[in-house]
Amino acid sequence: MVRVRASQVEIEAAVQALRDGELVAFPTETVYGLGANAQDPAAVRRIFEVKGRPSNHPVIVHLDSPRFLHRWVREVPQAAMSLAERFWPGPLTMVMPRAPNVHGVVTGGQDTVAIRVPSHPMAQQLLTAFGGGIAAPSANRYGRLSPTRAEHVREELGEQVKVILDGGECQIGLESTIIAFQGQRVRLLRPGAITAAQIRQVIGELLIGADLESPRVPGGAAAHYAPTTPMIIVPSGEIDARAETVSGGGRRVAVLAQRLPLRAHKYVTWINAGRRPEQYGHDLYTNLRTLDKAGCQRILVQDVPDGESWTAIRDRLLRAAASVSAADDSGTMAVLP
Ligand code: TXA
Ligand code: MG
Repeated sequence: MVRVRASQVEIEAAVQALRDGELVAFPTETVYGLGANAQDPAAVRRIFEVKGRPSNHPVIVHLDSPRFLHRWVREVPQAAMSLAERFWPGPLTMVMPRAPNVHGVVTGGQDTVAIRVPSHPMAQQLLTAFGGGIAAPSANRYGRLSPTRAEHVREELGEQVKVILDGGECQIGLESTIIAFQGQRVRLLRPGAITAAQIRQVIGELLIGADLESPRVPGGAAAHYAPTTPMIIVPSGEIDARAETVSGGGRRVAVLAQRLPLRAHKYVTWINAGRRPEQYGHDLYTNLRTLDKAGCQRILVQDVPDGESWTAIRDRLLRAAASVSAADDSGTMAVLP
């Protein structure tokens, strides 16, 4: 269920909380954000405390439109104007040179700031009513799965957040595409619903992935967006056989697949997430949360197809699996860090 608009009372409470330096969780079309007034460094510091996130990680500033972009960005590249025109409001975040007054706690001490104009009507309502920038990372504890429903936020951060606006399920379910402007070059730092091909159609060249000069993207840290159950990715055709082997001896195993099992497996909790990338991405974090709670010793994920519509999904799966990349697939428990 998607709930599109909040009541006036809810919005007023959220705006008041932001003005008071409190945190507000709110839905966006990608995932839920944990928001603070971006001009209140103490409030932004609270985000880090509540998430348990290292304090030198930058956060995205959310705006209701590009109209006050110059308050946050020193110099808006021409290519960014074109991309804003085409993709905002929407799931695109652009890292640009920061304006002098943008606080270091927002930028992680870097000379750049990440800006996004979300399209979710409730996020828009909040941003417009607040009238300023809202600094917001995803509303999860550091290193865990991003929340795509209000109850995920309640479960994980509950008491510490003054207001949680409930917009039902996020439409996309995966975090925004992030690009950075570095002189004349534009680089993709995190794949998302807006694909590299779509960006190239607007600006021509787009480099892929971080390089040594790139700004830091902690979301790019190897183990991230991870369930607590060790997770491994299995070649597509081998998923049934692997589920059978790993569950041998009565070990409980969770499977995230794109089809039904070929036969019933004892001790296996199987989710068929389907073959459509939009639906798969929309459900991904909820599915991983469900499997994570199923009391299994391992999550096996059927590898996803190649192709650009699966790029963001593949990226999140690889990160979620990274914490156990050293594990073998024989059914031996992984040694977790
Ligand atoms: O879809 C999204 O982007 C969601 C919603 C709430 O907008 N937000 C989100 O925020 O995913 P977060 O903090 O979980 O991920 C944002 C990523 C982080 O990896 C952060 O390091 C990076 O953006 N980032 C923020 N500012 C940056 C900067 N100035 N330079 C490089 N990376 C930056
Ligand atoms: Mg995050």
